[in-house]
Amino acid sequence: MKQTFYVTTPIYYVNARPHLGHVYTTLVADTLVRFKRQRGVGSFFLTGTDEHGINIERAAEARGVPIKQHVDLIAQQFKDAFAHIGIEYGRWVRTTDPYHEQGVQRLWSLIQDRGYIYKGEYHGWFCGWCNEFKEVEDDSSEPSCPVHDKPLDRIAEESYFFKLSEMQDRLLELYRSRPGFIQPETRRNEVVSFVSGGLKDLSISRVSVKWGIPVPGDPAHTIYVWFDALANYITALGWGNSQFNDFDRYWPGIHLVGKDILRFHAVYWPAFLLAAGVEVPSSVRVHGMWLSGGRKMSKTLGNTIDLSVLYRHFTPDMIRYFVLREMAFGHDGDFTYEALIDRVNSDLADGIGNLASRTLTMVRNYFDGVPPAVTGDIADARLKEEGGQVRVAVDHAKAGFDQEFEGLNFSRALESAWAAIARIDKFISDNQPWKLAKDPARRPELEAVIATAYEGLRQVVLLVAPALPNAAREIWRQLGCSGDPLAIDPASVSWGQAREHDVKIGQITGAFPKLPKDKIMSEIEKERAAATEPAVQEGLSQQKPAREAAPVQEAVSEQKPAPEPASAATPEAAGAATPTLAPTITIDDFAKVDLRVATILAAERVPKADKLLKLQVDLGEAQPRQILAGIAQYYTPEEIIGRKIIVVANLAPRKLRGLESNGMLLAASIGEEGKPVLATFAEDVPNGARLK
Ligand code: MSP
Repeated sequence: MKQTFYVTTPIYYVNARPHLGHVYTTLVADTLVRFKRQRGVGSFFLTGTDEHGINIERAAEARGVPIKQHVDLIAQQFKDAFAHIGIEYGRWVRTTDPYHEQGVQRLWSLIQDRGYIYKGEYHGWFCGWCNEFKEVEDDSSEPSCPVHDKPLDRIAEESYFFKLSEMQDRLLELYRSRPGFIQPETRRNEVVSFVSGGLKDLSISRVSVKWGIPVPGDPAHTIYVWFDALANYITALGWGNSQFNDFDRYWPGIHLVGKDILRFHAVYWPAFLLAAGVEVPSSVRVHGMWLSGGRKMSKTLGNTIDLSVLYRHFTPDMIRYFVLREMAFGHDGDFTYEALIDRVNSDLADGIGNLASRTLTMVRNYFDGVPPAVTGDIADARLKEEGGQVRVAVDHAKAGFDQEFEGLNFSRALESAWAAIARIDKFISDNQPWKLAKDPARRPELEAVIATAYEGLRQVVLLVAPALPNAAREIWRQLGCSGDPLAIDPASVSWGQAREHDVKIGQITGAFPKLPKDKIMSEIEKERAAATEPAVQEGLSQQKPAREAAPVQEAVSEQKPAPEPASAATPEAAGAATPTLAPTITIDDFAKVDLRVATILAAERVPKADKLLKLQVDLGEAQPRQILAGIAQYYTPEEIIGRKIIVVANLAPRKLRGLESNGMLLAASIGEEGKPVLATFAEDVPNGARLK
């Protein structure tokens, strides 16, 4: 059996900013690798970004930037988000990396040479958000994607097909002979029933998508993004290219994926590999989704947990612990900040944090900072027995932790460590060392109690280190122990093992202070209301269907008479984004409003008016128009120059600060503060086009 461990995360789409869902899978991989390394297993952890496809093309277009610039920016945002929380991956693969492109073409050619690819014609419907062709019942209507609720694209074009239909038996045999190939069992059953129902050949190239890897020998076609993306798991090890040389050492590995992309990993990917004659992965481990407000957190629904808010209030260890403890891997979990604060306070501050500080403080106060050694000969029979129970509880936690962790049951693994913490805590409270310390005759008992608590804590810290790397290192240092707790296998540390003579505890600092729940919640509520939504501005009007569109200036006059629209962006003036609708109007009423597509040519601040921007806007007219907009607190001039916007073009001109404004910008009004988010287009639309 090979003694290496290779784990992958999905590679993430670069069409919007990272959110908690992405961080979750990556944190799980990071924690697993830390766990394996701590136990001496050579491990490799791959993550990265999925950068090709129609959706990325569109996102870049919507921002009006070259695609490469767009993908570079978002890939960096993912890297930053992961770095912030201390994720240490071994390699970051990007599907635009030349070695990957080479490997993908090599895989294609191999499968083609082995007779599994043919050319045909595809007629059907495609969702650019799922990157998947969809079955549609009523072909005559204009169908939408059931997952994203977006219109599907009608595709009728020449395409290469993969003979997936021929792989049914081999796949079923794989699932049968390797029951652990897809875990958990419920997901395996889903896949088995899907494949048993019969498989259709899969269209694996597109002529209408340009942003992709060319099909070898037929560059008018680009390779289907999922074929391209899935191959990352081997190209990044050096398969099919000469960039790296890690394939033999690490493949096969385990793939961590959310249930949203189960079929791609459990059906298509092994099918491609079987067709190519390459070994399939060792397993596909499927987790549930973080929900927010009961719905899957996703960029298309606009209900993601904003990492900037999360990171502002919680340390990486708090977030790591919470997501691992709160969500049973494989099941969905609802994310709430309240639950996060409660967990931090009960398990971290009152749990391990409190145990560490009370134990260390007593070592300092009663033993001048030199922890007493554990000895077997405790005279007091009751104390001896209780000390023995603590030891058993710690040994039990160690065994349970490893077993559950191996099964990816992080929540249960942590529970078993916390059972030991609770046992040590109880042992301290029951024996009241602060009383023993007052009676010199009871010094041996005091030594026994503190030695047991110190020893138990030392072992527990090693156990929790993969999940709480920063706190573990910190407490380890305070315990006066040497080395890196993440490099010490808990199994190698036996109870009462003699410590070096010169152990002296370090300076004591609370590992986890208690969080003030009400204060944090009220701050978070405010920030969320004003939160910057995926600010890459990738077609905001398309991405955020839940947001109410409201004209920037109109919000002012409707809510409160204000001297000038500059106050549109102030909290008092702008309306909260309530779903209460304005009175019904007729189509004729609406027709009176002339809405036009425009581009911002120039933007500058207006002196002494900190809310106003003066814009020069191209509406397809002979001359650019000047428009004043109350958005200066939310947009800088630099970031909006070049933006496609929507303008109310027939609004009577008005003067603001002595400057004439000839129209109004459309924007969604977000949260209580009425934060404006400019409406824009995902497709290229000429200036002057009318909206109706
Ligand atoms: N690019 C594809 C994957 C290609 S892998 C060869 C893709 N990208 S994605 O950006 O949409 O990421 C999907 C993955 O992100 C999920 O499978 C899951 O790992 C993670 N998550 C995204 N949203 C999530 C939640 N709400 N909850 C938990 N994980 C989530 O699909």
